[in-house]
Amino acid sequence: MLAGFLDTSDEWIVTRTGIHTRRLLSGETLRELALKAARAAMDASGLRPQDIDYLICSNVANSYVSPSLGSIILGPLGCCCPTFDMNGACAGLVYALDVADAFLKSKDVKNILVVAAEQPSRFCNWHDRATSVLFGDGASALVVTRGEGFFDFRLTGNTHTDVMYYKRAMEPTPYDCVKEPTTPLVMEGREVFRLAVEASIQDVDTLLERNGMKGSDIDLFLLHQANMRIIECIREHLEQPREKFPTNIQKYGNTSSASIGILIDELSRAGELKDGATLMLSAFGGGFVTGAALLKWSSITY
Ligand code: COA
Repeated sequence: MLAGFLDTSDEWIVTRTGIHTRRLLSGETLRELALKAARAAMDASGLRPQDIDYLICSNVANSYVSPSLGSIILGPLGCCCPTFDMNGACAGLVYALDVADAFLKSKDVKNILVVAAEQPSRFCNWHDRATSVLFGDGASALVVTRGEGFFDFRLTGNTHTDVMYYKRAMEPTPYDCVKEPTTPLVMEGREVFRLAVEASIQDVDTLLERNGMKGSDIDLFLLHQANMRIIECIREHLEQPREKFPTNIQKYGNTSSASIGILIDELSRAGELKDGATLMLSAFGGGFVTGAALLKWSSITY
């Protein structure tokens, strides 16, 4: 289908990215997708809406700048807890988990619903073959409950605005009428690739070293699904077997901050996430921001 209106080919996309298919919203809305993911996570946790103490949404952009996506889905979920959105780009889920962990340790809260919902198809430039073929829309959600699961996080940030950005037009005022049009996603693919590999390796190595662990102590590395070749470069550096790096980018493309949650859900449903497994999450995205998390997996009802 893409080759029908872009100068591209399935062969190019599969070889350079590993992506075979991706899902894009058409009839459905991001709100509906976010709600589906959130409801599935709540059902799986066995918790009631009143048991959720915070709802944190990770989202880069949706048609509402305000209210937050969290506010929009809170009511339909039947929850009445505080909520806010975070924009940690493609690393947003790891950022949200870090905040959830901090809240669970410092506040009188027990259950936090983290929802990552993204529609990158609506900020891509569909005339640009180098970006539009990479992304897919998706949502994932996790209920994070107080416990001993998280060992450590490493988050980093740098200002590299030029390598990846999406600009939205603001309303003119009588005092500032500079017209800055909306600019769909602009990306320096090669530079982003380099930054992603370098940063993810540094995050993972730092967490391993800080916790006296080696790559062989990790059961699964769950990396942001941006490009199969990025995942492969990180894997080669860590000298760990392929089976420890599950992927689903083949099916969904890059779903931004939703990607690691979708991977967790699929592994969990397939029975491949054993209770007590040691997981390393690592993600990176526009900013440039990165985040890695070291945790012990414990599912409640799966
Ligand atoms: N189909 C066919 N040709 C394409 C194409 C497509 N979809 N996209 C780009 N090309 C062309 C380029 O125009 C270029 O042509 P040229 O040599 O005639 O100028 C050629 O392919 C090579 O382009 P290049 O950018 O060097 O390719 P690459 O091997 O770096 O792969 C990416 C491009 C985008 C797949 C790769 O750089 C990448 O994945 N980067 C990271 C992007 C990412 O993950 N972003 C999100 C981070 S959260």
